[in-house]
Amino acid sequence: VLFPTAAAAARYVAREIDKLIRARNAAGKSTVLGLATGSTPVGLYRELIRLHQEEGLDFSRVITFNLDEYYPMPKEDPHSYFRWMHETFFHHVNIPWENIHIPDGTLAKEEIDAFCAEYERKIKAAGGIDIQILGIGRTGHIGFNEPGSPRNSRTRLVTLDSITRRDAAPGFFGEENVPHHAITMGVATILEARRIFLMAFGEHKASIVYKAVEQPPTEAISASFLQEHPDATVVLDPAAAAEL
Ligand code: GLP
Repeated sequence: VLFPTAAAAARYVAREIDKLIRARNAAGKSTVLGLATGSTPVGLYRELIRLHQEEGLDFSRVITFNLDEYYPMPKEDPHSYFRWMHETFFHHVNIPWENIHIPDGTLAKEEIDAFCAEYERKIKAAGGIDIQILGIGRTGHIGFNEPGSPRNSRTRLVTLDSITRRDAAPGFFGEENVPHHAITMGVATILEARRIFLMAFGEHKASIVYKAVEQPPTEAISASFLQEHPDATVVLDPAAAAEL
């Protein structure tokens, strides 16, 4: 779906989330959201906060699972996705803290596998993800599923691609400070969400959007597996859609 601006696209996705949360709240049921970090979803979070503050959107039954976190990464670190999510979104809505799930960058190495298995179990126990929000990295990653991530991959520790680390460098005062690893939901974890919105804005995303959307699905571009999902929507501005 093509929108004239990133702001209009964010409003559309926010409305879809708003409709689902209100319907579930009316039925006394929870809503499970899969959330993403990065510059792309900032407008979406801003709009959801506005819907909460001005239109009474109630997050008290919302349960969230974030896609990924750098590893290692202390929670209070300025670069942590934990901190970013709280500052950008969670602090501004009435979501109960115990409903928030984010991969833990503070684990000891030997704790990671058990944590990842438990993360998958918690998603299932919550009823599965209703709406998953995604951005896309220049390597075609969704979450941190870098090239080579299998279609059946699950939440796990991954090694970051050098392009991804270079793209993150300005936020870390240089590439040498960017972690080499991350914990991410897997491709299979993401594809199990009932509905998916992949958002991409700006000309720097045009080439990878083209490959993800119009070339055959391949492990080399994990976002391309979204073509096999029954309800995935790619939400673009004109610059990101330029090569389609
Ligand atoms: C990071 C995140 C991804 C995100 C990507 C693109 O690598 N782990 O989830 O989609 O960056 O970031 P941006 O939205 O800032 O372009």
